[in-house]
Amino acid sequence: MSSPAPPAHSIWKEAPFTVNQVQTTELRRQEAAGDAQAARVPAVEVHDLSVAYQKRPVIWGIDFQIPAGKLVGLVGPNGAGKSTLLKAILGLVPPASGWVKIFGRPYDAQRRRLGYVPQRESVDWDFPTSVFDVVLMGRYGHLGLFRRPGKADREMAWECLRRVGMADFAHRQISQLSGGQQQRVFLARALAQDADIYFMDEPLAGVDAATEHAILELLGVLRDQGKTVVVVHHDLQTVSAYFDWVLLLNMQLVACGPTKDVFTPENLQKTYGGRLTVLAHTAHTVSPA
Ligand SMILES: Nc1ncnc2c1ncn2[C@@H]1O[C@H](COP(=O)(O)OP(=O)(O)O)[C@@H](O)[C@H]1O
Ligand SMILES: [Mg+2]
Repeated sequence: MSSPAPPAHSIWKEAPFTVNQVQTTELRRQEAAGDAQAARVPAVEVHDLSVAYQKRPVIWGIDFQIPAGKLVGLVGPNGAGKSTLLKAILGLVPPASGWVKIFGRPYDAQRRRLGYVPQRESVDWDFPTSVFDVVLMGRYGHLGLFRRPGKADREMAWECLRRVGMADFAHRQISQLSGGQQQRVFLARALAQDADIYFMDEPLAGVDAATEHAILELLGVLRDQGKTVVVVHHDLQTVSAYFDWVLLLNMQLVACGPTKDVFTPENLQKTYGGRLTVLAHTAHTVSPA
């Protein structure tokens, strides 16, 4: 009766996050056996990572670890390489050097455990597809090769739409949404992926206060369920209130750690350099150096 959503990867302006089709029961079994160790293995480990576009390096020598179960803010000025870092972790751009591990294994083996919300501008919002189908696409990573989404997948897509308050918009074309509604839909899609670790590129950009609050609440729930959520964030005023853990980036890594330890005026100075108006404005909201 209902036709499945097309593998509408063409919604992406750039190369999509490839759906993992290697989903063997053996992999599942190994994961279950590894769960006990998983608590100690970092959710993300990045070593000596560098990325270049047309031979011009944009991030280099990046080393950090993020423990599981943290809500992480990735913070830095425009052009600092935040989106590039996420794309490199997700295998969307090739590293010039270094490696990435997700829960102790190369990301190739872990793709199904990753969820991605791209920056809104990198999506073709004129692509003719409905809100529901975008969310259902989130299930594709869980489907075997050539398997169509079934009733359970569709029910889950509905549930995710309800969680972000977008069920009433299910049949609307994505071109006919406000910015905040688009972000909610992409959040629902990420929820449908049922990942263990989420990477979200500026999910709060251009949303109204109510949507920001709703998204933050949802991210808090995911974290409380033990998931790891990495969020590119540009509002320095809210970093301390929103995030347990902070990564400060300006082409090189400035700091990575618990917010109260690393979100200091000194580190912000290193990250933003002479942009002191930002710093003066924010100084009272950050912890002492
Ligand atoms: N596809 C691309 N080709 C060439 N240069 C790029 C590309 N994407 C980003 N850049 C450049 O890489 C640098 C980092 O960009 P980006 O990762 O988008 O930074 P941020 O997300 O922190 O604003 C910028 O100088 C940007 O112009
Ligand atoms: Mg960016």
